[in-house]
Order: sequence, then structure tokens, then C-alpha cells
Amino acid sequence: MDSDPALLADMLHHRTGSLPAGSPVALPLTPASTYALPGTIDAPFTYGRAGGPTWSALEEALGVLEQAETVVLPSGMAAISAVLLTHLTRGDRVLLPSDGYYATRRLAEQFLTPVGVEVVLRPTAEYAQQDLDGFTVVLVETPSNPALDLCDIAEVSARAHAAGALVVVDNTTLTPLGQRPLELGADVVVASDTKAPNGHSDALLGHVATRRPDVLERVRQWRTLAGGIPGQLETWLVHRGLETLELRFDRMCSSALVLAERLEEHPATRDVVHPGLPSHPQHELASRQMARAGSLIGFALPDAETAERFLERARRVVSATSFGGVHTSAERRARWGDAVPEGFVRLSVGCEPTEELWADLEQALRGLG
Ligand SMILES: Cc1ncc(COP(=O)(O)O)c(C=O)c1O
Repeated sequence: MDSDPALLADMLHHRTGSLPAGSPVALPLTPASTYALPGTIDAPFTYGRAGGPTWSALEEALGVLEQAETVVLPSGMAAISAVLLTHLTRGDRVLLPSDGYYATRRLAEQFLTPVGVEVVLRPTAEYAQQDLDGFTVVLVETPSNPALDLCDIAEVSARAHAAGALVVVDNTTLTPLGQRPLELGADVVVASDTKAPNGHSDALLGHVATRRPDVLERVRQWRTLAGGIPGQLETWLVHRGLETLELRFDRMCSSALVLAERLEEHPATRDVVHPGLPSHPQHELASRQMARAGSLIGFALPDAETAERFLERARRVVSATSFGGVHTSAERRARWGDAVPEGFVRLSVGCEPTEELWADLEQALRGLG
């Protein structure tokens, strides 16, 4: 499933067609909290908590890529919590990945379980075996972060819908260019645009995309009334980042595949995981469901100390959490409590020239393992 080139061009030109002569071609940053409002309140913008031109521009651009209406939120977690907290109430059941981004589980355990929502955790690769009867919301994260396991979005969506559940896909690891959950039958996409869509490690942001007007309305109301809103500068930065997403993501994914293949052959590493490798246990599903295999690679070194030595030695890999940025970065995920071996490294491949990166990884791995 490839991303449609027309959508990329439409996204880039989403506002240029209607520009009056003399307007800036770049999106203006509009830091307004209140808007002129004489007489009735029937105006496109009224007060900053309800909307503004910078948010609208980003929502439009993301909407072109998602082919759905979008709501921007101040972070990926704000997008996830907006959907979960507006669709779950006492007595409901939610299915979450036990191997997905840890903050989603923590959110559920700390704020949904205490109000009487039953939180069920299953590994992503076992969603296919999970009976979905009785669930209100099924949240899928594929590829899961950090172990990069997959599940079949179309198959889970069909079964979840038969059971009456809302299907939410966290599409952070792939972006709309790498995977299109709404086309595969999911109801809602949630994503952290802090990662590749912004891509420059200088802003947090998230979005919800859906073709369901009821979901859209609830999430918009939540944003306005709960009051956690994206900053104008962050929104503007992500709009700017999105304009080069395709170029960056292309380099990142192509490099990641090359590096994953070489890491797999390297004597110091073991258990190299990347959905583009034929050795990935769900490689066939990856080829069917994903347009790109993503920019993340997982691999194990013998122990925590060896992994830390690798991170210290690598000069073109910044030791940092998060992923999707122009700078290649890596970290030992066990330090956050993820259920991975102590020596497991998650590598986020950035935009450096591929051979420069490989030369650096090779020198950092020399003699380890
Ligand atoms: C898969 C996934 N979902 C959601 C998030 C949360 O995003 P944010 O940090 O923008 O809140 C992350 C962050 O790493 C993530 O990896």
C-alpha cells in the first residue's frame, strides 16, 4: 500500500491556491488568544481555546494526508487521552497493547481503572487470538513501540466492529505515509506528531483523525472544555515540519532497512528486529499492511553495560529518548521499564547519509558482543 503522490502535493499546496496577491507563501504564525467579535459569535475564530488559524492550517494539512478530519492536541498522549477519556466510562472494557508505548498503559491504570473501566492488556502479536466481545474500545499500536510487533488492522477492525467496539490505531511509528489505518477499517487514528511529522526534535504535538463525526465532536469538545491545547508556535513548527516529511521519512526508512540488514549480519548484535527484514515474524503482514517499514530498528547486545558502551562510542547516534527526528538517536529501552532485555537498543534512524551512519555503527560495535 503506497502513499498517494497526489496527497503529498495537495498537502504542500493546501493553502497556496487561495492566497490573495501579496500574501506570505509560508504559513503566518498567529499568536492570538482572542479574535475580533462584534455582535454575534458567528465567526471562524472567537477565542484561542476553541480554535485559531494556525491550528486550522495544520489540521487541514494533516487532514489531506489522513483523508479524514483531524483535531490537533498538545502531544501524542493528549490525543490518546482525548479519545480514551471521552469514550470510556464505568463498566466499559478497553483493550490495550501490553507491549506498546508505556505511557498509554500507565494512563489507563492510573486514570481509567480507578473510575471503573476494565483495562485488558495483551501483546500486539496476540490480538489475533483475543476474543473482542464486550469491549468498548480496542486500541492497536502496530508496529508496537519498542519491540516492533505487528497485528492485522483490517482483521482486528472487522472483529472489533462485529463486537460493537471502536477501533483506535496509534499510528505514531509509521505516520500516514507509512500506514493508513482508516483505509484498513479503523475508526480513529491517534498519533504523536512530536516524532517524524515535526521531525526536528523541537516541538511536542499530536492529532486525532477520524471519519466519524460523533468521535470528532467529542474530541473537539474535550479539547475546548478540558483546556489542554496546542501552543501556536508548536503548531506552526509541526506544519513546517510536515512539508518535508516525505523527503525525511523516505531517507529514514531506506537507511533503516539497509542498516537493519547489515546489523543482522554483524557478529556483535542479536535479535535484530525491523518489519522490513524477511526474518521479522510478521514480515508478510508488514508487506501487505505497511507502505514503509519505518525508521526504527531494535537489536540486542549482550547486557546493559555493552549497550551503554555502544551508545557512548557512536558519534553519529545521539543518546536520547523519542524517535523520528533528523538526528539518528538510540537508547536502551529497559531503562524505562519496557519488557525487553537489558541490552536491547532501539535505534531511530535519522537523515544522515546512510554510509556515514553505517561506518559509525560499525566502529561503535567493533569488539563488542
Ligand atoms: C507509539 C507512541 N504513541 C504515543 C506517544 C506519545 O507521544 P508524545 O510524547 O507526543 O505525547 C509516543 C511517544 O514516544 C509513542 O512512541
